[in-house]
Amino acid sequence: MHADNWAIKAKRMGYRSRAVFKLEEILDKLHSDKTYKNVLDLGSAPGGWSQYISLMHHKTKIFAIDLLDMDPITGVTFIKDDIGNIDDINIINPYKGKFDLVISDIAPNLSGIKSVDDENIFELNLMSINIANKYSKDTNAAMIIKTFQNNNLKSLRKHMELLFKIVQTYKPAASKNKSAEIYLYGAR
Ligand SMILES: C[S@@+](CC[C@H](N)C(=O)[O-])C[C@H]1O[C@@H](n2cnc3c(N)ncnc32)[C@H](O)[C@@H]1O
Repeated sequence: MHADNWAIKAKRMGYRSRAVFKLEEILDKLHSDKTYKNVLDLGSAPGGWSQYISLMHHKTKIFAIDLLDMDPITGVTFIKDDIGNIDDINIINPYKGKFDLVISDIAPNLSGIKSVDDENIFELNLMSINIANKYSKDTNAAMIIKTFQNNNLKSLRKHMELLFKIVQTYKPAASKNKSAEIYLYGAR
C-alpha cells in the first residue's frame, strides 16, 4: 500500500498517526496473544502508539513521555518531558523494573546535516535502550525501537544484544520502502 493510503486508513480508523500500523504489524508478528501489565511509550506524541495499546489492551497501564504536548487518551498517563529526565519523574519511579513492554518511536528534529543527525539519533536510541533496560522487568519483557539504517546501526544492535537475549530487525510494510527507518525488537 502507498504511504498516503496508510495515512488515509489511519484517519478513517480514528488513529492519530499511521505509525500505528507499523507497531501493529510488529506486535502481531511477535506475540499477538500477549497481554501487558505496564507499557512505557518513549517519544509518544501525537499518540498513535499509546492509542493502539490502550485500545487493544484495556487493562494495561501506559505511561507516555514526549517533549511535545499530547491530547489525553484513556488509560494513558502522559508526561511532557525529555526522556533524559525520566529518573526525576516521580509518577513513573515506582514502576521501575515493572514494565513488560517499552516502545520508542523517538525521532530528533533533523538538522539536514547527515553526520549530525545520525549522531543525534544514535544518542537518543542509546538512551531509549538504556531506559528500557533499567525500567523493564528482568524476564518476560520486550522493547521495540525505531532507528535508521546508517553507519551506527551495527553498534546500536550490539548494545541491545548486551541487554536483551533476543534481538530482531523489522521493516514493516507500513514503513515507506525508501525510508531508512527500521525497527529493532529486543526480548528477555
Ligand atoms: C515519530 S514521533 C512519535 C509518533 C508516535 N509513536 C505516534 O504513533 O503518534 C517522535 C516523537 O519523539 C519526540 N521526541 C524527540 N526527542 C525527544 C526527547 N528527548 N524526549 C521526549 N520525546 C522526544 C518528538 O517530540 C516526537 O513527538
